[in-house]
Amino acid sequence: MSDLDAVVYGASEVVVGPDDAGGLNTCEDGAVAVVDGTVAAAGETDDVLAEYPAENAETAIEAGGKTVLPGFVDPHTHALFAGDRSDEFAAKLRGKPYQEILAEGGGILRTVEAVRAASDEELVANLTDQLDAMLAHGTTTAEVKTGYGLDTETELRMLDAVEAAAADHPVDVVATFLGAHAVPDGTDTDDYVDEVVDEQIPAAAEHGAAEFCDVFCEEGVFTVEQSRRVLEAGREHGLTPKIHAEEFTRLGSAQLAADLGAASADHLLHANREDAEALADADVRPVLLPGTAFALGEDYADPEQFEAAGAPVALATDLNPNCYSQSMGFVVALACNGMRMAPADALLGATTRAARAIDRDGDGTGTLREGTAADLLVADGPSHVHVPYNFGVNSVETVLKDGSVVASGGERV
Ligand code: NIG
Ligand code: FE
Repeated sequence: MSDLDAVVYGASEVVVGPDDAGGLNTCEDGAVAVVDGTVAAAGETDDVLAEYPAENAETAIEAGGKTVLPGFVDPHTHALFAGDRSDEFAAKLRGKPYQEILAEGGGILRTVEAVRAASDEELVANLTDQLDAMLAHGTTTAEVKTGYGLDTETELRMLDAVEAAAADHPVDVVATFLGAHAVPDGTDTDDYVDEVVDEQIPAAAEHGAAEFCDVFCEEGVFTVEQSRRVLEAGREHGLTPKIHAEEFTRLGSAQLAADLGAASADHLLHANREDAEALADADVRPVLLPGTAFALGEDYADPEQFEAAGAPVALATDLNPNCYSQSMGFVVALACNGMRMAPADALLGATTRAARAIDRDGDGTGTLREGTAADLLVADGPSHVHVPYNFGVNSVETVLKDGSVVASGGERV
């Protein structure tokens, strides 16, 4: 017999997902019923309760005055790291540019030293802590990149740690290999690209945990041609391309993403209309990371040019030691207050469109429809607008993963 896992009812609003016109489909006085981990019904409370009485459910949540939303999907994180770079935060605030810090052996390269020095157990524990915090802020599916190893052994240890932390965690984790995140100290860039292509990618593919291959295409890091070599090699080994594109300088990396049919092009602070059209034509999903612009004091990306080109944007935290936030709610608030996105659009960016950026849209991840996984949030406030409107707090009160309560009151349970 099937189990009625949960009924969440009487919500001021239930966010179901996108409507046919690409807007946000919401239902007032709504409810969601969960049977065997999947959504059995999402709609008006009277209708849902008539078929799925709350008293028969293992978990019944009365959500008056609150909003029920699909779990957030965070499609770009560097959540696995070690060490502390809070001193660089102070230097950046005094005006030191991110790239100068990196060129002096700081930034990513400092985190690489800390990750190489960390034990396997520490890496797993660090990622578990980050995933716990992400979950408590409503993220139920997340991408996690390697890229703080920069040698075959440590990159594989990072993949091991991602696999081990994910195996025991409610957050669904999607792994990306990012051996080409920076050039190790004292190494020629072309030699390092040879190592990534000839050794690291085949080893990462053989390992099996990673689904995507990413590269930091940026002045002073990897050129467009070097990035192309990396992503083509990844693709030959079954890893779908993704790219850190047009972040500090416009190099042509969005065009490269389009040429390669990448799953996503991320950052895009310096992308223009032409880039947006190239991405839209090639069905590459633009992913904007407003937390990074916020942390670096840079101008925000322009979501409108992507929308106008027919490629509405996804949003992500970019969680890393340079952009230290686990909160998709904060990202949604920045998208609205900083990039002037409508709350409905920003929430689509944090759910269904984010799922597309990591090829998880096929199973309805990021929506609450009959048959989709019951990954959902109960958030404070009577409508989705309150998520970005009430910024600087964690509005997420309860998180359900596959219909079970996995976080409550800001803590994993
Ligand atoms: O996406 N841009 C490159 N990589 C990260 C930063 C990683 C770090 O600073 O440790 C990013 O912003
Ligand atoms: Fe990144």
